[in-house]
Amino acid sequence: MNQPKTGPDAPLALSINGLSVEYGFGPGAVHAVSGVDLAVRRGQVVGLAGESGSGKSTLAYAAARLLRPPGRVAAGSVTYHPADGVPVDVFGMDDAALRRWRWDKLAIVAQASMNALNPVTTLVSQLTDALEVHRPGLSGRERRERAAAALEMVGIARSRLGSYPHELSGGMRQRAVIAMALILEPEIVIMDEPTTALDVVVQRDILAQLAELSERMSLSVIFITHDLSLLLEIADSIAVMYAGRVVEQAPAPELHERPLHPYTEGLLRSFPPLDGPLVPLEGIPGSPPDPRNLPPGCPFHPRCPEARDLCRRHVPALIDRGDRLVACLAREDGSGWAAGEEKQAGARPAAPADRVAGDHR
Ligand SMILES: Nc1ncnc2c1ncn2[C@@H]1O[C@H](COP(=O)(O)OP(=O)(O)OP(=O)(O)O)[C@@H](O)[C@H]1O
Ligand SMILES: [Mg+2]
Repeated sequence: MNQPKTGPDAPLALSINGLSVEYGFGPGAVHAVSGVDLAVRRGQVVGLAGESGSGKSTLAYAAARLLRPPGRVAAGSVTYHPADGVPVDVFGMDDAALRRWRWDKLAIVAQASMNALNPVTTLVSQLTDALEVHRPGLSGRERRERAAAALEMVGIARSRLGSYPHELSGGMRQRAVIAMALILEPEIVIMDEPTTALDVVVQRDILAQLAELSERMSLSVIFITHDLSLLLEIADSIAVMYAGRVVEQAPAPELHERPLHPYTEGLLRSFPPLDGPLVPLEGIPGSPPDPRNLPPGCPFHPRCPEARDLCRRHVPALIDRGDRLVACLAREDGSGWAAGEEKQAGARPAAPADRVAGDHR
């Protein structure tokens, strides 16, 4: 049977296994990411949601080997799966291979990257410079044509090719950065809050184009945002992070219709419903824990309305519940599983995250 090129059964593009990232060492270390598994398939948009400080950017940067000290990978691995060829250990790549991978296969739109454009160079030269180096076979005209097409793709008229960054609005600069990320037609794009500076109409426009590109070019996207409602619209699969862990990962419709983790439910209640009658917004009481001093057991238990004694003592493992992965010990029923202490074979006693020496930056 032929494997589909895109969708939930498509081949993997990137897989993250047991990734833990810390800032600093010893008792004061920040456990920013703890034991995260994430699979990104070809042509899929994977959304990363979670409150500020939950570790979304750290996870993305570590996966691209762009962490800066004092950030360091404490455990886990990241694997790039080429379209044809053997999987590659990203932490094992030498500098030359890493540079090639980052240019050719992976692109990143960093948080607040609208200020990353070179202020003294026009858009056309910033876009064509990358092509000149990495697509040497193209003629000058072809390069210019691709630059114009990339700008149009994000809703900037080609007449702006000759503009300098300061002549553009903040939203246009952000879109130009997205165009730069896409111009080399990467296989994987990591977008960290790429549209927060944009108005809602433009956001929707860009996201629709992104979803279309993802399907047409088998582009895999890791899309990071606080805005879960945005992800429900564009993502195929959504991973919800809390205090450095993925607490639930599910296809977007399933997550929307039947959130299984109390935290996901709280996040969904924190914004107006996409359709149906308006209901009062509840939000989630309390605030996220200090990652230097995580509570024992499930890090969400102090804020969880359903927390039980079990939750204070055990760190829940991310367990396969058929249509999704969930890390919750509190819910016994109503969501389709029984979670007695003994049944949660994957649950770990509350202890500091497993740590493995070695810096894989
Ligand atoms: N350079 C650093 N040194 C120490 N701690 C850091 C550093 N960078 C991030 N952290 C901490 O790591 C945790 C995760 O941060 P991260 O930036 O990954 O969160 P985030 O989910 O991307 O948040 P936001 O939505 O605000 O962008 C936070 O507690 C943060 O304070
Ligand atoms: Mg961030």
